[in-house]
Amino acid sequence: MTTPVALPAFTTRVLPVIVITDVAQAVPLAEALLAGGIDAMEITLRHVAGLPAIEAVARAVPDMRVGAGTVTKVHEVEQVCNAGAGFALSPGFTPELLDAVQAASLPFVPGVMTPGEVMRARELGFGLMKLFPAEQAGGIGMLRALAGPLGDVRFCPTGGVSPANLADFLKQPNVAMVGGSWLTPLEALQARDWGRITALARQACELAASATAA
Ligand code: 3PG
Repeated sequence: MTTPVALPAFTTRVLPVIVITDVAQAVPLAEALLAGGIDAMEITLRHVAGLPAIEAVARAVPDMRVGAGTVTKVHEVEQVCNAGAGFALSPGFTPELLDAVQAASLPFVPGVMTPGEVMRARELGFGLMKLFPAEQAGGIGMLRALAGPLGDVRFCPTGGVSPANLADFLKQPNVAMVGGSWLTPLEALQARDWGRITALARQACELAASATAA
């Protein structure tokens, strides 16, 4: 078993989960997030524009750490590496997928929802996991429950995170960061309302800073 590669360091503990449908949105979106203080973004493979969007950001916005999301199939690992993704996340994992990311030395956050999945991913060497879908899995109560028997594992809860609960999630000792789509609303992307995205990023950074300082 190869050791998983650690995630690059992010300035903030908030990871925008993005569905891009038009590759032309990618670079201005990355710049808008950076202007609001967020220097990492997860571009999902849910649309064909995802891969070229990752490539565009990796090439044109060196200060942004761009990763791939919704990586669920083995062949996608090579695709996201070729596009320039610096890390990847998945809503779940299979042993084959974990083998592929480790062989590619791609920093990876596997998705989990049950204690058994946490144990399996930990056995395969992973210490940071995406709790998905976080709210439906039990939210903060679930994270507290996992902290007892599986206290050495860190999570990135995603799914149902918003400005209303972001700080509470980040205050949990086993939460490394949170992910969510609220930072990049579809209508703001379509309207190219970069100011709104910068404002949402700034708000998230402020909430994250208050949670970290508490
Ligand atoms: C994800 O893709 O990781 C989640 O669907 C994001 O969930 P959210 O839309 O509730 O933030």
